[in-house]
Amino acid sequence: MKQIPKQSSSRREFLKRTGRLAATSALAGVAIPHVHAGEDNTIRLALIGAGGRGTGAALNALSVPNGPTKLVAMADVFSERMMSSCKILVQRIAQGLMPGKGGKLSDLLDVPQDRQFLGFDGYRKAMDLLSPGDIVILTTPPAFRWVHFGYAIEKGLNVFMEKPVTVDGPSTRRMLALGQKSVAKNLKVGVGLMCRHCRARGELYDRIKGGGIGDVIALRAYRVAGPTGSAVSGPKPEGISELLYQIKRFHSFLWASGGCYSDFLIHNIDESCWMKDAWPVRAKASGGRHYRGDSIDQNFDNYSVEYTFADGAKLFLEGRSIPRCWNEFASYAQGSKGSAVISTSGHIPALCRIYKGQNQTDEDPVWSFPQPEPNPYQLEWDDLIEAIRKDQPFNEVKRGAEASLVTSMGRMAAHTGQIVTWNDILNHDHEFAPGLDQLTLNSEAPLQLGPDGKYPIPQPGITTTREY
Ligand SMILES: NC(=O)c1ccc[n+]([C@@H]2O[C@H](COP(=O)([O-])OP(=O)(O)OC[C@H]3O[C@@H](n4cnc5c(N)ncnc54)[C@H](O)[C@@H]3O)[C@@H](O)[C@H]2O)c1
Repeated sequence: MKQIPKQSSSRREFLKRTGRLAATSALAGVAIPHVHAGEDNTIRLALIGAGGRGTGAALNALSVPNGPTKLVAMADVFSERMMSSCKILVQRIAQGLMPGKGGKLSDLLDVPQDRQFLGFDGYRKAMDLLSPGDIVILTTPPAFRWVHFGYAIEKGLNVFMEKPVTVDGPSTRRMLALGQKSVAKNLKVGVGLMCRHCRARGELYDRIKGGGIGDVIALRAYRVAGPTGSAVSGPKPEGISELLYQIKRFHSFLWASGGCYSDFLIHNIDESCWMKDAWPVRAKASGGRHYRGDSIDQNFDNYSVEYTFADGAKLFLEGRSIPRCWNEFASYAQGSKGSAVISTSGHIPALCRIYKGQNQTDEDPVWSFPQPEPNPYQLEWDDLIEAIRKDQPFNEVKRGAEASLVTSMGRMAAHTGQIVTWNDILNHDHEFAPGLDQLTLNSEAPLQLGPDGKYPIPQPGITTTREY
């Protein structure tokens, strides 16, 4: 357990006064200085997967108000990603965008070149530099989550890992077992379903539990927008291996991410199931590919899913990646005595509200969460660090794995055209990418092009027992 030092508030005041100048001068170069840890209560961090979210998560970790944290090692498979992450970290700290900290650069970042590890085994080298009680941040594509989490458990490290945490039945079973191991070791593990830490959604959950909208009969969730992230991909260009291409375009490949369905829809699925306080037991769905151009990724362009809960209540989910259609990124609950807005437009602000009727008109709001709302991406870190400092139970693996499984359940229902139950997906034997713990730069990609030069795609009604 790492206690907050008695002198931390005056230290913070000092750093507030001196920090910005020191950080600004560090901007002269992107190289991150190497200094020795000044305080043994500092929670040290290693970042595995220095991409967009990894860099953001590291900044959140360095911005916590509850005691010193410092990034000491990084790992990635692309040197350009490592470099751009380092650059952004330095710039953001220099700009003073770290609300909880005033710290000077070297108090927050201590990642000299010999602690920036490239390659598929970089995660081990980075974690080897940490001690029990420190935190490793796992923000690669989800396929690697169980590999990296397994090693973190071996090393006795606390973990923050991004969603989804699994992509299929076998990886979910493995993750659930690893989760139990991590609980037995009293490790604190956060999973990046940050909306669970949103105070607005938290109060809405309490109100719904208290009967605020009566029985929850139906939930509706929408994430319909144009193509997002790397979900739409054309043929592999020259100059990059098949393996690295699939990793770089991970939203396009089911083995790497669970596809656009898992990566993008999981938040709406999770927040809706949270309000129902249950996971659905089965799913039926449809979806298809429409305007593909030369895109040969494995995704459908739209998904329409009906999840059913044990009491018969439904969650209706719409996902679409087609430009120039109506866009919506929101979730709703309909109850026997009213209705609620779970999220309004993306993750933040949620603008949670309860209405007397089902129409949700401005005339009949019963309650709305006061604005402004704190940022859940920061809150999930504040909560994790608090639990580590106070040695309180904090382990989100089971919930994160179950949310990932429910997501895979709906995706498989759409991809096969069959009704898929919780047990079907949990016990399914199709592991999209076995042996990822043995991967090297020379390994074959988990997915191979067919004779037609295209990747295998789901074919509902034709390929019915597995997704491809
Ligand atoms: N909670 C959220 O709202 C949220 C938002 C964005 C992303 N995410 C999640 O974060 C994860 C990363 O997404 P991203 O948008 O940052 O993608 P990204 O491509 O920007 O970052 C992933 C990084 O991991 C690196 N990487 C890939 N395989 C690796 C390996 N085996 N070892 C080390 N490094 C490896 C890549 O080179 C890349 O730099 C995904 O699981 C995604 O779903 C969550």
